[in-house]
Amino acid sequence: MKTKPASLFAFAAVALMALNSLAAEDSGPRERLLLDFGWKFRLGNEWGIAQDLAKAGTGRGPADVTFRDADWRPLNLPHDWAVELPFNQNADGAHGFKAIGPGFPTNSVAWYRRSFELPKTDAGKRLWLEFDGVFRDSVVFLNGWCLGRRESGYTSFRYEITAVANCGGKNTLAVKVDAPQTEGWFYEGAGIYRHVWLVKTTPVAVAPDGTFVFSQFRHNVPEGPATIHIQTRLSNTQRAPSRGVVRFEIIAPDGKTVATKKKRVRLGARSEGEFELTAKVSDPSLWSPETPNLYRLRTTVESGGAVLDRTETPFGIRTVAFDANKGFLLNGRPYVLKGTCNHQDHAGVGSALPDRLQYFRVAKLKEMGCNAYRTSHNPPTPELLEACDRLGMIVMDENRLLGSDPANLVRMAQLVRRDRNHPSVCIWSLANEEFKVQTTPAGGRVAETLQAVVKALDPTRPVTYAANVGNEFKGINSVIEVRGWNYYIGATNMDAYHAAHPLQPEVGTEQGSTVSTRGIYANDKTRGYVSAYDENAPSWAHTAATWWSFFAPRPWLSGAFVWTGFDYRGEPTPYWWPCINSHFGIFDTCGFPKDNFYYYQSWWSGQTVLHLLPHWNWPGREGQEMDVRALSNCEEVELFLNGQSLGRQRMKQNSHLGWKVKYAPGGLSAKGYRGGQVVAQTKVETTGAPASIQLVPDRQAINADGEDVSIVTVSVTDAQGRVVPVASNNIQFDLEGPGRLLGVGNGDPSCHEPDVFLPVPTVQSSPVKGWRWRKVSNARKANLPEEKEQYDDSTWPAADASSSEGPLHENESAVFRTRLLVTAEMLTNATLTLQFGRIDEDGWVYVNGHKVGESHDWQDVPRFEVKPFLHAGENTIAVAVANRYGPGGLNLGVTLEARHTPLPPQWRRSVFNGLAQLIVQSGKQPGEIRLRATADGLQPTTVTVEAKPCVLRPQVP
Ligand code: GAL
Repeated sequence: MKTKPASLFAFAAVALMALNSLAAEDSGPRERLLLDFGWKFRLGNEWGIAQDLAKAGTGRGPADVTFRDADWRPLNLPHDWAVELPFNQNADGAHGFKAIGPGFPTNSVAWYRRSFELPKTDAGKRLWLEFDGVFRDSVVFLNGWCLGRRESGYTSFRYEITAVANCGGKNTLAVKVDAPQTEGWFYEGAGIYRHVWLVKTTPVAVAPDGTFVFSQFRHNVPEGPATIHIQTRLSNTQRAPSRGVVRFEIIAPDGKTVATKKKRVRLGARSEGEFELTAKVSDPSLWSPETPNLYRLRTTVESGGAVLDRTETPFGIRTVAFDANKGFLLNGRPYVLKGTCNHQDHAGVGSALPDRLQYFRVAKLKEMGCNAYRTSHNPPTPELLEACDRLGMIVMDENRLLGSDPANLVRMAQLVRRDRNHPSVCIWSLANEEFKVQTTPAGGRVAETLQAVVKALDPTRPVTYAANVGNEFKGINSVIEVRGWNYYIGATNMDAYHAAHPLQPEVGTEQGSTVSTRGIYANDKTRGYVSAYDENAPSWAHTAATWWSFFAPRPWLSGAFVWTGFDYRGEPTPYWWPCINSHFGIFDTCGFPKDNFYYYQSWWSGQTVLHLLPHWNWPGREGQEMDVRALSNCEEVELFLNGQSLGRQRMKQNSHLGWKVKYAPGGLSAKGYRGGQVVAQTKVETTGAPASIQLVPDRQAINADGEDVSIVTVSVTDAQGRVVPVASNNIQFDLEGPGRLLGVGNGDPSCHEPDVFLPVPTVQSSPVKGWRWRKVSNARKANLPEEKEQYDDSTWPAADASSSEGPLHENESAVFRTRLLVTAEMLTNATLTLQFGRIDEDGWVYVNGHKVGESHDWQDVPRFEVKPFLHAGENTIAVAVANRYGPGGLNLGVTLEARHTPLPPQWRRSVFNGLAQLIVQSGKQPGEIRLRATADGLQPTTVTVEAKPCVLRPQVP
């Protein structure tokens, strides 16, 4: 059996090549098109649910195909509107103090719209819209048809649109997102924050999520050949039965086909068929975090010599098991889980992470020696799992909520079906800390039901539950396969439980957690900062050294997942406002390491580590005693102040070393020894005052695909180029070239500066008055003379267009006319929109004799973009109205809304303890993106990131 070690960097490069090569792959007639670009967005909801329960296909407001969204904000997905909102002390702190949720109704519901063409040749195909995740409670409409509602913001879902799609024409997609209700107790974002896809297949094809491929070895130990189990579900939506052949190819990581199989299949008319077969792969390259070897299963469906469908499913060959004594076993060997729990948000972008950022975060964790990731407390975005597959990170894939009601059972099953081919996923978690029910008999029964759902769909992986109880074998703990431990370390809990239940495997589902702020060395409640010494943890939790020292000598605990890898928005602990994010992270929200990173790196990574804390900029503290620590895995460490040895000390396993040092500016340095030899050296120096800015992109060349990002570290340095660890300068950023700034952060848990700067359009509304009206025989008739620009209406009576009921009786028609004075200056506005309170019932709107639109819903608030039809001076507005029932006419006022062309916003951010982060995204044009940073009193700097031509992923134009 081969295992091929390779550097993380090489894996990242291969993983990213694989991302691109997917675009080029021949999938037969199947298409999977990204639907992320070119959406329109509107925060607010004047239209209610917009679903017409009386008649099919008649969505109202934005759900109506004729709705005009010309003045809505254009944007691309993924998008989180919560991160764009200001912080507000009255908002929900657990969710990050963004002005959304209870108390902020106008910020809590929004609409997205997008239209797209489908070619005529799509007629006869099966079509789906797939949403990887929308937070939350979305209702999706296509061409006025309501496709469905999905409440949870964490599950992926799809709607088949074959019946309601318009092939050979325009399709209008509208999504209402209702986010005042939350699901977790942490920041969750709002909006279509994951990808959207349009999928097309032939009527005979692999069904959605219809492939399951997994490997098995005798005795679950990878010796001898691997047996590859392939389960395939095919569907035939034709009226006739279908015969054909399904071919399978297993392609090894080096691109060679190592096994082929084929199967004759017959599917009845309008039916699905499931079958299973096995193949052998001898001498497989195993998947592990150290060797993330990926195989591919290529499935080709053929009939009459033609390829009907082709799919490619990446998978890995490996075994996993949890043993009650040996702990977690990967590929038959004990393997300690050195994990972190994480929520899904990042600085600047909230929960809408570009794919590249997933790779960035996973790579940071790996650098620390971390090998496992718990997707607390919800199903992750598929791209996170792809990053974990490709970079090598074991995943505990967690369900959101415990429940055996139909909706929760379906969500659990969907999660397993979606994620069970990922080799990174090594264990499922049913839920977290369901403290009301976890020890009750009902809790146990519900967990047993969920566990059975998982086992039926995936016989290969164990199941756990994150219990925050101690030595208790009641409820969920008594039925769960692997006992999960949230906190409760100690002999009376863990050792006693293990002795009493020697056959039940165990894992630390959630341990730690030190609360700390990057670069801060004393608690400061007023500012909301916690010291970065490994000293503070909530009452239920423990410091890094405490929990790891307990777990390390107990292999049966399997290792654990630290709460948390990265700081996340919300749950400010231990301090509330002004804090807006948690302090639990080993990294801050940007991914800048706190000192504890070096503790874990010392005992987890196998690399030689030597790190000193604190920084050495303490003017005014001369002569005072400072607590200096070395985080290291060297056998001995010697500390020096300004070249004078302060003593050499022996390191205890899983610990750190400390010296009391009288502060004097200059240099603190250390040497690390093994076997008496110096194996590591480090120093921290007292820096000079802030002098310049540095910008360092994590990648200098990115793909010009409108998706890729470069993550730029902003630092403030002294005249010698050393980062000033106490700098807080406010930096201004300007970007030129084919890219944009996506978000900005600095890891400061109490910073209320904006994460995103948006162009703010200013809007002015003025009433349109002076209406006159006259009945006509039939307003539906085209080209009425009363609609023309020149028509003498001077003798018509005045109309009150602001009343709630119009002057028309049933089945009467009229034309309403007025004059609108427009100045040349008004025409410089971005848009000029006529808005009618109500047109009761059918209306045809003309400006200077040009038809600008129609309205056929008396409950609508119709809006028409009229700037192209106006000229400076006097203009004529005419509205033909056909009333059907009750009183009708022009009601509730008419306004002209002028939206000014917004100026590009000025991005800025203060550095926090010397650092900030900017996320720069490419456009689809190649070229040089120039980023300039300036600040009062500092030397400015410019950096370029090259957006390189590339093959775009298949996408909806
Ligand atoms: C745990 C919980 C986490 C988080 C953490 C904070 O009990 O599972 O979601 O709230 O506490 O310490």
